Amino acid sequence: MKKRIALLGATGSIGSQALEIVGANPDLEVCALASRSRPLDELARARGVKHCQVGGDLTSLLDDSEPDVVLNAVVGFAGVGATLWALERGVTLALANKESLVAAGDLALAAWRRGGGLLLPVDSEHSAVFQCLEGRAAETVDSLVLTASGGPFRNRPLDELVSVGVDEALAHPTWSMGPKVTVDSATLANKGLELIEAHYLFGLRYERMEVVVHPSSVVHSLVRFRDGAALAHLGYPDMRVPISFALTYPDRQPTPVRQLDLAAGLTLEFEAPDPERFPLLPLAREAGVRGGTFPCAFNAANEVAVSAFLAGRIGFLDIASLVADALAKVDGMPARDVEELVEADASARRTTEGALAPV
Ligand SMILES: NC(=O)c1ccc[n+]([C@@H]2O[C@H](COP(=O)([O-])OP(=O)(O)OC[C@H]3O[C@@H](n4cnc5c(N)ncnc54)[C@H](OP(=O)(O)O)[C@@H]3O)[C@@H](O)[C@H]2O)c1
Repeated sequence: MKKRIALLGATGSIGSQALEIVGANPDLEVCALASRSRPLDELARARGVKHCQVGGDLTSLLDDSEPDVVLNAVVGFAGVGATLWALERGVTLALANKESLVAAGDLALAAWRRGGGLLLPVDSEHSAVFQCLEGRAAETVDSLVLTASGGPFRNRPLDELVSVGVDEALAHPTWSMGPKVTVDSATLANKGLELIEAHYLFGLRYERMEVVVHPSSVVHSLVRFRDGAALAHLGYPDMRVPISFALTYPDRQPTPVRQLDLAAGLTLEFEAPDPERFPLLPLAREAGVRGGTFPCAFNAANEVAVSAFLAGRIGFLDIASLVADALAKVDGMPARDVEELVEADASARRTTEGALAPV
């Protein structure tokens, strides 16, 4: 029997790489496709996919298509419904949409406990940590280290960051990704979201998770153990590896990605991130530690601010200021249900939009 995959965010960067992985693997098939606005007819025809949806409620598509695996590669809070749908039903969730776990954190964990299914991270760092942790007893784990490329502005002085443009922010040195996550990588908000994501995925407190900048993106993350050993996951930066790992788990099928060539030389440099130039990283950590709907508010404010930056309405450093202002204004009360979560998200969005200059 083929594994039937609902591919949400099929037209995006992760979505198109997932289609390549599925197309090359006879044990996998796509049973549903979703996008926000780009048409899917051609893709659906070529792949023989019956269930397709452009925009709208993703959970009705999932009800209709009855997938074995939901690959949530939607960008932003829009992915929350699908994440909760899969977790609640115990349907395997391959999660690229980190924003949904960040925003819905506690509700998602409760749904995961009730559903009892697999939650397989697609983010390369979390896929790496998942693999380093597999089969290890929790008490043997000391801490996690998430690596960050540092983005295109790793060496830019603060005074120059004021005027960097959209094109420069979109020129990521090691990964080719959609625009929102690329800007998040430039501000290090992405690594902040990933810290919160790791907290929910692996159940570790924030003081046991560290972020280091590692410009070549070869070490995808590490786990330190209590005996002084650290296990790392290495490979060239290519999302097809963690996508394939999640879709073919636990089999680990071949991919077209080349093997590491160690004899040709590898640069394994690490440095501490700079909280002054990249304040969204400490802000995300703080939102995570405060808990409740602070992570949801962090995400919502960041989504609004990144859209405004991409539209040329604000400067690069304004993204962090807007998020900091929003976090100072929201109450962060825990959401008891999805309606309260949606309201917390909407409230942080209104606050951030209100702080933007009118167009
Ligand atoms: N790209 C990477 O290498 C990478 C790595 C790690 C994690 N991630 C995470 O993976 C997610 C996707 O990233 P990406 O880079 O693939 O983004 P992307 O290229 O911008 O693609 C986003 C996809 O989501 C769809 N979408 C957006 N809103 C939707 C909605 N309301 N309903 C249905 N579909 C919707 C888009 O459809 P339209 O095309 O119609 O707009 C598009 O297919 C993000 O959470 C990101 O943080 C990405």
